[in-house]
Amino acid sequence: MQKQVEYADAVKTKYPEQVVIAIAKDKNGKANPVTLGWTMIVSGKPPMMAIGVASKHYSIEAITHSKCFTIAFPSSEMADAALFFGSRSGRNVDKFAEFECRTEPAKAIDSVLLADAVANFECRLTSQVPTGDHITFIGEIVCSHMNTEPKKRLYTVGPGHKLGPAS
Ligand SMILES: Cc1cc2nc3c(=O)[nH]c(=O)nc-3n(C[C@H](O)[C@H](O)[C@H](O)COP(=O)(O)O)c2cc1C
Repeated sequence: MQKQVEYADAVKTKYPEQVVIAIAKDKNGKANPVTLGWTMIVSGKPPMMAIGVASKHYSIEAITHSKCFTIAFPSSEMADAALFFGSRSGRNVDKFAEFECRTEPAKAIDSVLLADAVANFECRLTSQVPTGDHITFIGEIVCSHMNTEPKKRLYTVGPGHKLGPAS
């Protein structure tokens, strides 16, 4: 049986929610990482993924400028990085200069990978769709990477950006 409730209450049942860090270079060549929960695989052949980015975020400028982005799956040890990248704006801060986080160059796009992530996907921007107060960016995956060590993914496990492994 179901009871009608407010959207804000029903949507709190979504946890655990996956966390990704998307990275795109801005017009000055600065790589800007942003933490995102709103993401999904949208095609298998070709492989494609989507990310939802709020219209006010600096990442919009970086992604529309470079027309490509990395999607990294952070490991459960990367909660501090995810919180830092998800609470500062690249408009005011060079996030990689201010928070120690190992990177590697991407292979097929002009971006970087997160060396300690579980996996990294290099995406070429194929389309962008305004979706209410966010823009949904869709990218085709042109190169994929996995950590050589076994690692657990990072999730948001409860409201207020409570981060941790899913179980
Ligand atoms: C766990 C977590 C999940 C987040 N999910 C999203 C998201 O899905 N979409 C979004 O636009 N912002 C999301 N944010 C907020 C942005 O990461 C944050 O506002 C960031 O500072 C924007 O950076 P930018 O201005 O450099 O783009 C999330 C933050 C955290 C900590």
